[in-house]
Amino acid sequence: MKILWIAAEAFPFAKAGGLGDVSNGLPKALKKAGFDVRVLIPKYDWINPDKHSLKLISKEASFRKSDSFSIWQGFLPKSDVPIYFLEASVFSGAGIYEGDEVKKFLFLSEAALLLPNIVGWDADVFHANDWHTATVPVFARASSMHSETIARKKFILTIHNMAFQGSIPLIEYERRGIDKSAIEKFADTADSVRALRLGIHFSDKVTTVSPTYAREIVETEWGFGLQQDLKSKGKNFVGILNGIDSEEWDPSTDPNLVANYSVNNMEGKSECKVALQQEAELPIDSSAFLIGLVARMTSQKGFDILIDSLPLLFEENIQMVVLGTGERDIEASLLKIQQEWEDKLGVFLKYDEGLSRKIYAGTDAFLIPSLFEPCGLTQMYAMRYGSVPIAHRVGGLADTVFEDKEKQTGFVFEEYSSEDLYSAVCRALERYLENPDSWIGLVKKIMQVDNSWESRVPYWKNLLHDLIQK
Ligand code: ADP
Ligand code: GLC
Repeated sequence: MKILWIAAEAFPFAKAGGLGDVSNGLPKALKKAGFDVRVLIPKYDWINPDKHSLKLISKEASFRKSDSFSIWQGFLPKSDVPIYFLEASVFSGAGIYEGDEVKKFLFLSEAALLLPNIVGWDADVFHANDWHTATVPVFARASSMHSETIARKKFILTIHNMAFQGSIPLIEYERRGIDKSAIEKFADTADSVRALRLGIHFSDKVTTVSPTYAREIVETEWGFGLQQDLKSKGKNFVGILNGIDSEEWDPSTDPNLVANYSVNNMEGKSECKVALQQEAELPIDSSAFLIGLVARMTSQKGFDILIDSLPLLFEENIQMVVLGTGERDIEASLLKIQQEWEDKLGVFLKYDEGLSRKIYAGTDAFLIPSLFEPCGLTQMYAMRYGSVPIAHRVGGLADTVFEDKEKQTGFVFEEYSSEDLYSAVCRALERYLENPDSWIGLVKKIMQVDNSWESRVPYWKNLLHDLIQK
């Protein structure tokens, strides 16, 4: 089966968050399982062809006179999965989610359907991700510009975050050949329709990134107005838990760490803790309970309840290192607390892949206080690096972090409040201080939890086989 995975980002070429990691890990795992998967993302002009050994394979293709594009090709690292890069003037000069997003992502979605012909490879399935590429099936099935053959292809849409739905003026669809009568019944206002909503209706299968989030977005306000649309898909809407690339994320080989370690030889982890305390300019203290947090700084990620609980937490022998960028007021609040508690809190306001790995490795525990979390990858990276997750029980966090005795993989709080967050951290701290054997037992246990993409492949195989039989 030939599958074209289309997304706005793919690690290591372009990454803003978890979608980048998924666009690398899942295609690679499916390829190993025997599927002919290829990936398509935009060629943002800061992607350096020499650095990634990319080749220009097609120049100046176009759908309309003014919309010409070129195609570059490379491979996902350490794999034989081809990745194509769409180069066009719409993608130049801005970050992944900056500039005219409507224009650039409609361009990507429309061009995706032409790619197989251009590269001489006939995709059976087009797999779109989030609102950015949700219109791929709409271009295929509601535009006179494409043949019947394209309309009969199979389409999957994976939703990584319902909070972003891409409201687009109807006129923009019409301009690109989409038949207004086929989409206007999904319009929210007289003149705009959400790309994600169209994607849900025009795809054969819709998935999201964890079973709990799949329930939440049908049953609660986290569906952001598309609850009924998802419900109408019946069995064609499912939640499949994301995984991690456990080769790429491995503390025994990670070149970013000052010392490598594994379950059988944990010495290196203490060195990573010292190095992190140094880098964050915190007192070097092996007994301090060092907590990490790596996240985009948005209201989704729970910074409000974290910020409220920090002064109380810092009365204990707790240190914290936070890495992220995003909303100005979150950044400013953290800096303010850091000034007051400089021997307790290290704050890095930047995007830094290497530092993120030093934080997973150097910390004792890892906080994920998200208000909502479709899946979340950081709790799984933390586990792999032996940093015990402390998480709000929501979305994919509820499917990966458990506090129940037998199944324990971390500490969990139910209510989204600074009080509950504080109690969960205190439970973890108590275990760390009062029962070191049990703590190290837990650390070693979570390092061995299998969250690999390979463990998720059976669910994808079922879905793909079901899709082809439809
Ligand atoms: P989301 O996709 O909502 O941002 P995920 O938990 O799925 O959340 O994925 C976040 C990914 O982005 C992880 O790989 C995490 O390590 C990474 N990340 C987030 N912020 C930063 C940052 N400032 N520097 C480096 N990596 C980051
Ligand atoms: C989104 C979600 C995150 C998820 C990621 C990858 O950005 O916020 O929870 O892990 O996509 O699917």
